[in-house]
Amino acid sequence: MTSIEQQLIKLKIIPVIAINNLDDVIPLGRTLIQNGLPCAEITFRTDFAAQAIQKLRTTYPDILIGAGTVLTIKQVDDAVEAGADFIVSPGFNPKTVQYCLDNNVTIIPGINNPSLVEQAMDFGLKTLKFFPAEPSGGTAMLKALSAVYPVKFMPTGGITIDNIDDYLSLDSVLACGGTWMAPSKLIDQGCWQEIGELVRQACLKLS
Ligand code: 3PG
Repeated sequence: MTSIEQQLIKLKIIPVIAINNLDDVIPLGRTLIQNGLPCAEITFRTDFAAQAIQKLRTTYPDILIGAGTVLTIKQVDDAVEAGADFIVSPGFNPKTVQYCLDNNVTIIPGINNPSLVEQAMDFGLKTLKFFPAEPSGGTAMLKALSAVYPVKFMPTGGITIDNIDDYLSLDSVLACGGTWMAPSKLIDQGCWQEIGELVRQACLKLS
């Protein structure tokens, strides 16, 4: 198991974040750290992703940073250069996966069916994102996949404070991701206290 996987297992919950304003990066990082989740998956759904990763990395050198919604090799390069620890993609793109493997970059690609798991295993991958988790069958699908394949999953997509227990109770689940702790609307409005409370509530699920 890689050190990134070990850190994900320890953290168990990864806030998935879209940054629309670079001024939000430091207060958000501080809020996550102070409330118990020193990690973030910053998605390339906004144009600020690479700059946000860089700012977060510079300000909080020890925070675990994933780059999310990575769709291209250029985005892999931008994310790694900015200081991302690992790459997450919504789907399984062999080109991006091979590029990451060739460059010793940890990638957790998305899968949601047996054929994709097998393709990922062919590349030697052992940790996969299960996305979109709830629309793809949720824990029932994960149980079925885990009965067959010796891989670990990081489900995201539709996970909330109300169903995370069901996911975390599965041995095959390394960690869960989601936007519910730091939704864009609250980030854009600078609601750090509310986000802090959502993060604390999520952390209570781990105790
Ligand atoms: C992701 O990018 O991992 C998901 O879109 C997060 O899904 P959620 O908004 O349902 O948590």
